[in-house]
Amino acid sequence: MHSWRPSLRSKPNLAIYTVNRTFSQSSRLHKLASAERQLAGKHCIITGASRGIGAEIARRFAREGARCLLIGRNESLLGKVREELEKVGEGEHRVLVGDVGDGEFWGLLKKEKHVDVLVNAAGITHYSPLFITSPSLLEEVVTTNLMGTMMACRTVGKNMMAANRGCIINVASLLGLKGGKGSVAYAASKSGVIGLTRALASELGEKNVRVNVMVPGYVETDMTEAMTPEARSEALNSIPLKRFGQAAEIADAAIFLATNQYANNCVLNLDGGLSAT
Ligand SMILES: NC(=O)c1ccc[n+]([C@@H]2O[C@H](COP(=O)([O-])OP(=O)(O)OC[C@H]3O[C@@H](n4cnc5c(N)ncnc54)[C@H](OP(=O)(O)O)[C@@H]3O)[C@@H](O)[C@H]2O)c1
Repeated sequence: MHSWRPSLRSKPNLAIYTVNRTFSQSSRLHKLASAERQLAGKHCIITGASRGIGAEIARRFAREGARCLLIGRNESLLGKVREELEKVGEGEHRVLVGDVGDGEFWGLLKKEKHVDVLVNAAGITHYSPLFITSPSLLEEVVTTNLMGTMMACRTVGKNMMAANRGCIINVASLLGLKGGKGSVAYAASKSGVIGLTRALASELGEKNVRVNVMVPGYVETDMTEAMTPEARSEALNSIPLKRFGQAAEIADAAIFLATNQYANNCVLNLDGGLSAT
């Protein structure tokens, strides 16, 4: 494993886009009444917001009145998610294109001084035994999942500390707690995310910054879509609820962690009971 080198990767295509919202009559009808919105006026940063769990958390946060900064590498997908948010929420949403594993990328976030909630959902996986996995892939998985989360916490958490408020929600995986063939780098990176969450919860608690981690089992997204039919069937058989979770169910848990003011160092299983088996 190489040491952390900020300029290891090629420079990402960086740009922040803001679009003024436009309200249609029908979208107004679907908005929650102001009094019911749990994140009204909150500024939230969500990594991995172009697809899957991160995108669903962004949709849910926007419905609850949050203003979101969406981070990912795919500008076009991020743009589509932002357009959806403009329809359901009342906040102004932005897009930041970049690679969370690039140390230089996080320099851009230093100016985000008033962040209420940071969600680290960006992640990649791999399915291959350690001895035939290339060192560069091992490094990419750890750099994206672990260093990406740590750098996000370091940059945004520093501003939260200064503001004396904030909440960080990391997304780990059951594979960070439990074995799984072909997932060595992924499991190592997600164990690291759980470990860093615990350490940071004790560091930042006295600054009124809460740090929590969600530990999903299998969730229906592009990530699990890539599983072979055999692997999917084996996984389904071992889950007590006999189904994969939905991204919306993970987003519900993110709302809980974002709003419950006593939630600090929660390690929240969302695995349909898989960790019990
Ligand atoms: N699905 C599951 O069963 C499951 C289970 C446990 C944990 N998780 C975790 O949940 C999180 C979300 O997973 P998902 O299922 O939603 O996966 P997904 O559908 O594959 O989405 C992954 C997201 O991460 C972003 N991303 C990946 N690498 C990035 C990088 N270097 N820089 C910036 N963004 C990056 C992707 O955006 P771009 O491609 O646009 O960059 C995408 O938005 C991940 O951390 C994953 O490990 C998922």
